Amino acid sequence: MGETVEIFEVGPRDGLQNEARAIPTAEKIALVDCLSRAGFRRIEVASFVSPKWVPQMADGAEVLAGITRVPGVRYAALTPNMRGYARARAARADEIAIFASASEGFSKANLNASIDESLVRFADVAEAARGDGVPVRGYVSCVTDCPFDGAVVPADVARVVRALVDMGCHEISLGDTIGRGRPEAVDAMLAAVLNVAESDILAGHFHDTSGRALANVDVALARGLRIFDGAVGGLGGCPYAPGAAGNLATEALAAHLTARGFETGLDVAVVAEAAEMARAMRGAKDADA
Ligand code: HMG
Ligand code: MG
Repeated sequence: MGETVEIFEVGPRDGLQNEARAIPTAEKIALVDCLSRAGFRRIEVASFVSPKWVPQMADGAEVLAGITRVPGVRYAALTPNMRGYARARAARADEIAIFASASEGFSKANLNASIDESLVRFADVAEAARGDGVPVRGYVSCVTDCPFDGAVVPADVARVVRALVDMGCHEISLGDTIGRGRPEAVDAMLAAVLNVAESDILAGHFHDTSGRALANVDVALARGLRIFDGAVGGLGGCPYAPGAAGNLATEALAAHLTARGFETGLDVAVVAEAAEMARAMRGAKDADA
């Protein structure tokens, strides 16, 4: 048996949030239900952000209410503030995520707040979650490149990682939000971050805009990371990050990891089925356009 690597499926959230077509709630539920059969331990299914900012995620409560929860699978949701946290709790999200940026330009565009202002908001959310016993994942976006500020300094990433760890996040996902990161830059960023956090609480979240996501996964594997985010069908992007394209496709990530001798615990046939559903959702949008 090879060493285990967890793939954290973000397709229903990071994948679908960027789709222009209003995807029916029933389609989202069907996608999550398919993913629940694929062997993922965690699936990010919703985002309780402002519906004015991301209309595509407005039906998060209906999605969480409609899915068939499989025992042992944690259904996660993004929460930008206390209002979002209350909505996530009411919808019975099993895990929540707070999401900061390493660059000021993206923080302002995505959260209408400076990095430090956002961290103050997130500290309140993390404290409430701790009191309720809800696990908190932290994201750091723009870990190598920002669509507004350009190259990001590794020490800036490490500072935000440390702040999120201090808040009690059990895991930090490092996001190459616009998929521009080069392996050398990812490696330098990880070297700085590993001074403030152990590799076993870090996840790699690579968008594949420049076709370098798998090379960046290899750099992260060499640095000891064993958790990676993927989105079935390579759906995705961030509406507030111009130029951000799809997430690294889960099926490509799983095949890559298997070829390197790692176990993902996924049923590749079911993952392929989910990827087909995801692509059909996008195809329908393209047909509408
Ligand atoms: P704001 O406009 O500064 O805040 O937005 P506000 O408090 O003035 O709220 C604006 C309106 O939204 C108000 O409504 C609020 O009530 C409402 P109005 O009074 O005008 O009718 N509102 C809410 N409604 C429902 N749920 C809430 C909520 N909060 C406010 N939780 C805010 C600040 C943080 C709300 C906004 O900037 C926001 O929602 N941002 C989220 C953007 C987003 O979701 N981006 C994509 C996810 S991040 C990502 O994709 C990156 C990642 O994948 C990692 C990577 O790739 O790097 C994670
Ligand atoms: Mg992302």
